[in-house]
Amino acid sequence: MRRFVELHSCPYKLVLTSSAPSGPGRSVERECAINTSPGCGNLAVDEAAAASGARSDRRTVTRIELPPTEKPEEWLDAATWPPVADPEHSVNAAFPWNKFDPLSYQRHHYEHLVEDDRRILDLAGQFLATRTREEPRRGIDMGAGSNLYPALAMLPLCEELTLMDLSTPNADWLRTEIKDYAPSWDPFWEVLAQHEPYRTFPEDPRHALRDRTRVRQGDIFQTDPGEQWDIGTMFFVAESISMVGVEFAKAVGAFLGCLRPGSPFVTAFMAGSQGYEVAGRRFPAVPIDEHHVGGVLRHYGVEDPSLYRIGIHEQLRPGYDGMILAMGQVSG
Ligand SMILES: C[S@@+](CC[C@H](N)C(=O)[O-])C[C@H]1O[C@@H](n2cnc3c(N)ncnc32)[C@H](O)[C@@H]1O
Repeated sequence: MRRFVELHSCPYKLVLTSSAPSGPGRSVERECAINTSPGCGNLAVDEAAAASGARSDRRTVTRIELPPTEKPEEWLDAATWPPVADPEHSVNAAFPWNKFDPLSYQRHHYEHLVEDDRRILDLAGQFLATRTREEPRRGIDMGAGSNLYPALAMLPLCEELTLMDLSTPNADWLRTEIKDYAPSWDPFWEVLAQHEPYRTFPEDPRHALRDRTRVRQGDIFQTDPGEQWDIGTMFFVAESISMVGVEFAKAVGAFLGCLRPGSPFVTAFMAGSQGYEVAGRRFPAVPIDEHHVGGVLRHYGVEDPSLYRIGIHEQLRPGYDGMILAMGQVSG
């Protein structure tokens, strides 16, 4: 059985899709096969850039193509993941989610649109724009917290949106915020509005979000198997609700299980996160990279996920080394 230390050694094909030093509006596309050594994230990007003659830049957005699977990893086996020091206090249920401060979290992360979120939203909007269809859909944002931008990205595609979160203060914050969302969310909509169907969305997004959205307090690990949605987002949840690798994998599986076969989804993850603080209180993380995200998605039957590594443009806090965006379609 493979253990965690070996997981970093698989070869990725990296495609550099954007290069900040080239100046506004210019993009660079290069392909190079590399063998990632330990800490494959930004190091891999730097190596790829160096190999192709480009200036090394850890802020680069990188599209990652997974190699064919030789042997599936045992993602639901604890031995695949690094051991945690205190398992009893490392699981999702051990953390004080009802003490999560939504206002502090929102102010820190989303009061102003940062470049990293702009890139994620732009890619997500482009992806979802290709998934429009006539029939109305029901969408879910899992672990919504105090972030409205995943819901905005699904808005034109949905007649009904559910924002689900375990935490009482987060659910309360969401119920208030969707009634008439703050002007700080307008720049997020403007990024989406560069693309159809957002540009020609016939309603005021503020009113549409209010009218179409329901907030539900719920646990990702205890959803009703009889209830499924047609499109879903999950941003910074699976890797940021526990320190246990198996729970990360289970959370991804539970999210995909909420969606009907064939549903499009967009997920985002913090890479290499050591955990985070909200209003002075510590919350957990599993330090994952794109290999874990791609491998776990495949484990749950997602055939060809689009994976991007979003290098750090504006460091939000210490203790992470970028973000990962993964988009695709539920198998079936
Ligand atoms: C790091 S925050 C992410 C919030 C938001 N999605 C974002 O994009 O910033 C993690 C969120 O997961 C929620 N959460 C924690 N455990 C959960 C569970 N078992 N089921 C559903 N949500 C959970 C927390 O309350 C918190 O809002």
